[in-house]
Amino acid sequence: MSAPFEILGTDHVGFIVGNAKQAAVYYQERFGFEPVAYKGLETGSRDRTCWVLRQGKITLVLQTPMTRDHADIAHLAKHGDAVRDLAFLVDDVRKAWETTTARGAVSVMEPTVLEDEHGKVVLATIATYGDTHHSFVQRDGYRGAFMPGYESYTANKPAVSAGLEFIDHVVGNQGDGEMEQVATWYENVFGFHRIWTIDDKDVSTAHTSLRSVVVANENEYVKMPINEPADGLKKSQIQEYVEANYGAGVQHVAMYTHDIVATISKLSANGVEFLQVPDTYYDDLLDRVGDIEEDIKELQKYGILVDRDDQGYLLQLFSKPVQDRPTLFYEIIERKGARSFGKGNFKALFESIEREQERRGNL
Ligand code: FE2
Repeated sequence: MSAPFEILGTDHVGFIVGNAKQAAVYYQERFGFEPVAYKGLETGSRDRTCWVLRQGKITLVLQTPMTRDHADIAHLAKHGDAVRDLAFLVDDVRKAWETTTARGAVSVMEPTVLEDEHGKVVLATIATYGDTHHSFVQRDGYRGAFMPGYESYTANKPAVSAGLEFIDHVVGNQGDGEMEQVATWYENVFGFHRIWTIDDKDVSTAHTSLRSVVVANENEYVKMPINEPADGLKKSQIQEYVEANYGAGVQHVAMYTHDIVATISKLSANGVEFLQVPDTYYDDLLDRVGDIEEDIKELQKYGILVDRDDQGYLLQLFSKPVQDRPTLFYEIIERKGARSFGKGNFKALFESIEREQERRGNL
């Protein structure tokens, strides 16, 4: 199926959090995001406060409900701090909304024009898996800090970029047996295509395994692996997520850098905690992945993982969860030709995750 409407890329990732002001500081100090826009009581927004942070082409919007009867309160109570909205940049919001809703997507907000002295933005929103939304954003050359309703913001202390450039992929965890219907939904509703798949025979440890299908839009700027738990001897990390999140949701956001060693060294110095694989991971690394440009000692110093596919190799590293619940985490990724997602690292990685699960009493 060819694309029924064009998606230019990811516009922003929207979160509902308990305290957006403090979450903004976390993303600034730990990950190097610059706070660029704000809306809240001072701008006339009485029911919600939003902080917008940016690094490279990555925009995060942190939103906190301000009234006890706000609709987002239920989301916060159910999921804790979590991703609410994976917003796509399009050149025609009405077409995107009409096409997806005609194909069965549930509308959350009809196309709406927002306007201020900097221009206009058109927005619409549909629902996807769990309580996650997809907004469509049409910017038409909008010149303001983010969107009408927001004021630009300059922090007293500027952020120091960690070199994060754009979102490489966003992973959605589903409940048991739900992966296929969600992947099919993206094919039918968005015209996405499948670019990669793994099953439980590819990826399993003694304890846990998963299945995953990756769907992507036509230009493959939007790539969305869809996971479900597979039966293991003990509880799958996907199942742990689904229980902690009370349902499906965004598991991780992968952010691209063209120099992963430099990026990870900054993030580590900022205090970001990453999953660590045993030092033995590096013993036979070159046998597994062949020649790479990076110095293995440097990779080992930061615990950076490497995998190769038939088109090249990739380097990646995963953070620990960034909130109290074992739900959302981040991946840092650099691609040297590879278009896959690091299957060769899953075993070492899962064993690392399982050590964390064990400590949480969730294995
Ligand atoms: Fe990933």
